[in-house]
Amino acid sequence: MSKLKAIEWVSSKVRIIDQTMLPREEVYLELSDYRDMASAIKEMRIRGAPAIGIAAAYGMALGAQGIEAKSKEDFLVKLRSISETLAATRPTAVNLFWALERMNRVAETGNDVAEIKAALLAEAKRIDAENEEADRKLSSYGAELIKDGFTILTHCNAGALATAGYGTALGVIKAAKRRGKNIHVFAAETRPRLQGARLTAWELKQEDIPFTLITDTMTGHFLSRGKIDCVIVGADRIVANGDVANKIGTYNIAILAMENGVPFYVAAPNSTIDLSLSSGEEIPIEERSPEEVTYFGGVPIAPEGVQVANPAFDITPHRYISAIITEQGVIREPYVESLKKVMK
Ligand code: MRU
Repeated sequence: MSKLKAIEWVSSKVRIIDQTMLPREEVYLELSDYRDMASAIKEMRIRGAPAIGIAAAYGMALGAQGIEAKSKEDFLVKLRSISETLAATRPTAVNLFWALERMNRVAETGNDVAEIKAALLAEAKRIDAENEEADRKLSSYGAELIKDGFTILTHCNAGALATAGYGTALGVIKAAKRRGKNIHVFAAETRPRLQGARLTAWELKQEDIPFTLITDTMTGHFLSRGKIDCVIVGADRIVANGDVANKIGTYNIAILAMENGVPFYVAAPNSTIDLSLSSGEEIPIEERSPEEVTYFGGVPIAPEGVQVANPAFDITPHRYISAIITEQGVIREPYVESLKKVMK
């Protein structure tokens, strides 16, 4: 199992690895204020759907510690404002809202302020531990889909950095490797934030898994040349009909995979599944700053003042998805039914 912990509660503070600094430097930040946690999520120092959920939960625990309140009612009003600050960080990954909802529910059922503060920290730790357990299970199911000798294409980073410490799409890959399968990974660099080049490549190197780094625009080429046996990606939100929001560029890969007869798998825990939305069109897509597109490594690469679009995610319609790998097993179409069963 990977020892890497992207986020951890350490003596009344939250310790995160600053993912904006990787792979150049391994910098750890110690956060003791929920506002700093909100900024860290917004600035993508901590990122990846499951890790964002855990960060929000610990952010609530941090915020709760600092509340001075005479009554439970007063405490809950202040906690609500902390929850709103954390909810306003990133809109697409449903794990954020799922975790905040759990934390708010725990707060409401407590008797007094001291008891609620303790319960909130316990719940955040539980969310962290449950996420890791879920990833371990889904990775084990997913590893069954990987045959010896497979070359797997992945996009963005869905590894230990993006989760409680094991990974979803990369968790499946790691589990297959640990079962002795001879595998090779193609990691797409993932413009504009380069999670593939900076983070997935860094994790694969640490895990000693052989890989080839490619730019996003090369995926069609390698899929059409028969170089890829399957695609595995993570998810930020999976809705009732099986449509999936994931890192921008995922949709292109899914179409190219189908066109070339290559299976396209999505690996995600239940905390990423949102049955309240019926189709992908309803998922809010985060629009990030134009500078992520106009600058590369701090250097301007476009004329000043150009109009830019920067959606951070896209929607892959369910018809392109061969299977969704969850902690309850590998599910397939019709997703409306199989997802309902998983969420029971
Ligand atoms: O913008 P990011 O880096 O937070 O986006 C991350 C992704 O799109 C991941 O693929 C997804 O969250 C799954 S992580 C297990």
